[in-house]
Amino acid sequence: MNKSAAALSDQAKELRRIVEQHRQESRKPGNLRTITILSGKGGVGKSNVSVNLACALAERGKKIVLLDADLGLANIDMLCGVTAKYNLAHLIDGSKDLDEVLVELAHNVWILPGGSGIKELADLDETRLLALIESLSVLEDRADILLIDTGAGIHRGVLTFAVAADTAVLITTPEPTSIRDAYGVLKVLKGSTESGGKRDIAFIVNMANSESEGLEVADRLRKAASQFLNLSVNYVGCILKDHFVEQAVRIRKPFYQLYPDSPAADCIRKLVHTLFGMTAERAVNSNPPRGLKAFFFRLTRGHFAER
Ligand SMILES: Nc1ncnc2c1ncn2[C@@H]1O[C@H](COP(=O)(O)OP(=O)(O)OP(=O)(O)O)[C@@H](O)[C@H]1O
Ligand SMILES: [Mg+2]
Repeated sequence: MNKSAAALSDQAKELRRIVEQHRQESRKPGNLRTITILSGKGGVGKSNVSVNLACALAERGKKIVLLDADLGLANIDMLCGVTAKYNLAHLIDGSKDLDEVLVELAHNVWILPGGSGIKELADLDETRLLALIESLSVLEDRADILLIDTGAGIHRGVLTFAVAADTAVLITTPEPTSIRDAYGVLKVLKGSTESGGKRDIAFIVNMANSESEGLEVADRLRKAASQFLNLSVNYVGCILKDHFVEQAVRIRKPFYQLYPDSPAADCIRKLVHTLFGMTAERAVNSNPPRGLKAFFFRLTRGHFAER
């Protein structure tokens, strides 16, 4: 072997050693919980649920980073009336650091705009992935929950986020097409989680006309999942159809902040309570491991396996 080939081989060995070390570290559980919000049908309220859930969680003393992982138009800044200058792509290319990319939405709530960075995640080589994880690693100490809002549909990007997270929360409305598409997501998630370990799958019925309608939808979805997919899914609760939500969207502020006494805000408060019970239960026996590093490794693992 000539000198330069030997040097290259040493570099490759060193890189493999660093990657292995990070992989080992990624198995050490972190504290950060990851929750992905997704749906089958579009426009069912994912972004609204994400933003307002984040505000309610923050009210309970949690620190939340809200990742806008919609591959299409950025949703969250539209809903919150904030303008994001930078996004995940700037973290990936190293041109900005985390504090420059995060946008503060409220006390203890920060938005991490995904932008074109979400697509780039799928193509990161291990070195760049490790660099990204490094630049995000302070979140492990600074935040309690990474809440991920995804775009509509069940394309690979959305599913990867759902499967990688500790908890996947599916949003449906009482509309038959929305329930059918939610069932479709469960079917695909079932397939993806079988090979990737156990995941919590929960769902919320948004725009319900009453709590009992929410329960009826929940019953149908749960029964179908159990009977045809042998899958157990937790019903977190419903959010009532509420004109205050539409009003807040027009004003571009979270309804939870703007109308804290509205029926929808009340529902969000209840959801937080239930969701907390579920994820706290899981924390006791967390397998696979929690934490930011473990999440990002799971997120990109499928991709690396193909290399
Ligand atoms: N509980 C509710 N009551 C009344 N209207 C609601 C409620 N939830 C959502 N909406 C309405 O539905 C619209 C779509 O909500 P949102 O943008 O959160 O959906 P989405 O699932 O994120 O959409 P996309 O799939 O395009 O990302 C909102 O603009 C709002 O007007
Ligand atoms: Mg959205």
